Amino acid sequence: MKYQVAIIGGGPAGYTAAEAAGKAGLSAVLFEKQNLGGVCLNEGCIPTKTLLYSAKTYDGARHASKYAVNVPEVSFDLSKIIARKQKVVRKLVLGVKSKLTAHNVTIVSGEATVIDRNHVQCGEEIYECENLLLCTGSETFIPGIPGVNSVPYWTHRDALDSKELPASLAIIGGGVIGMEFASFFNSLGVQVTVVEMLDEILGGMDRELSAMLRTEYAKRGIKFMLSAKVVSVAGASSEDGQPLIQVNYETAEGAGSVIAEKLLMSVGRRPVTKGFGLENLNLAKTERGNICVNEQMQTSLPGVYACGDLTGFSLLAHTAVREAEVAIHTIIGQKDAMSYRAIPGVVYTNPEIAGVGETEDSLQQKGATYRVVKLPMAYSGRFVAENEGVNGVCKLLLGGDDTVLGAHVLGNPASEIITLAGMAIELKLTAGEWKKIVFPHPTVGEIFKEAL
Ligand code: NAI
Repeated sequence: MKYQVAIIGGGPAGYTAAEAAGKAGLSAVLFEKQNLGGVCLNEGCIPTKTLLYSAKTYDGARHASKYAVNVPEVSFDLSKIIARKQKVVRKLVLGVKSKLTAHNVTIVSGEATVIDRNHVQCGEEIYECENLLLCTGSETFIPGIPGVNSVPYWTHRDALDSKELPASLAIIGGGVIGMEFASFFNSLGVQVTVVEMLDEILGGMDRELSAMLRTEYAKRGIKFMLSAKVVSVAGASSEDGQPLIQVNYETAEGAGSVIAEKLLMSVGRRPVTKGFGLENLNLAKTERGNICVNEQMQTSLPGVYACGDLTGFSLLAHTAVREAEVAIHTIIGQKDAMSYRAIPGVVYTNPEIAGVGETEDSLQQKGATYRVVKLPMAYSGRFVAENEGVNGVCKLLLGGDDTVLGAHVLGNPASEIITLAGMAIELKLTAGEWKKIVFPHPTVGEIFKEAL
């Protein structure tokens, strides 16, 4: 069987590429060994956001009296929350499948192995291809912390499906996954402790806003151990013999430990580079071991492209989608190039935190000149109307010539409004140019206009 495009991996990079190839009239085959939709749809972005929405709704109902609405009794049903999550996932996976089918993409369920740049094997079958797209994504990284293999721990996958709530949860890693689950379990009444080796949670986001978010969650009962490197974990037990887990960490002040009923490991993910014959291509790699790609997502081998988490640039679904579009445009001869100037990052805590472009840290590292414009979210009328007793901040970073370099927001719905700033940054608008855009009133997005 011969195809113009063969794609390995059916996550956001792979299915976007397959759909775009099909739409462009190319014959395309997509290999997926597990579930179409990849980590994002099946065990990442979508299921976590579904759970978090239930938690947010529960929080909203508990605090409805702030808005003069009386809700006499509020409760939740965890097994129904999880069942709804599964329903949402099923619906979206089916949606992806039907889009691919509508565009004549051949979907092959099974583990594919690259033989060479023009041949892929799956089962007994050999598929010939003119172009090969590697979209194998990333996997949970479990560091070799002493004792980690002797205790039962959760990865994000287990945390998504636990139908029983533990009384207490220790989370190693205060990054994106750690904080989203900390938020979810805290809302449902679990005693959560986050152990993070850096001096602030959410590395890569704006430090000041991350600290504000941490302070807010500390008020709601989450304990944070910062600058605390986990050095070992071990089994323990309660007075009544219930099995517990002890997390031992070291800080500059000395050693400490957290004892909890469950442990969530969220210390990062890494590109999947093994198990699909990548070695047969002998591609050029970066110093960090990632596959080298150019702005068109082309690897060192003509006709072979790499997109998504596999490239190790940004482990985000939306980056993967854009990279896949660029790869297919390149294949069909349409001029396009990947830009990482304005990749939004969002953490779906409540409140959400989002950022795009440069951070103060990244500008300082570059020695760049910039100025900060910072406003409380209360400058947006809509924010005040809908966020009783809640504070938030919007921060814009402007270059010497007033070009918008970065934007950071703490407050709902940061995830929805951050694209406005992303557009300004990608289009290299100055503050003056962006300000001329008419914003609908009243919207939370007007906070940018106020700041400008
Ligand atoms: P992460 O890289 O965001 O955070 C891992 C954290 O663990 C870091 O802060 C690190 O300092 C800490 N850590 C590592 N070793 C440690 C140790 N021994 N002791 C204490 N702390 C330690 O990784 P995470 O949260 O696992 O997420 C993985 C990827 O998934 C991220 O790259 C993220 O972009 C993506 N993701 C994105 C989401 C979103 O866009 N909302 C949601 C969930 C995941």
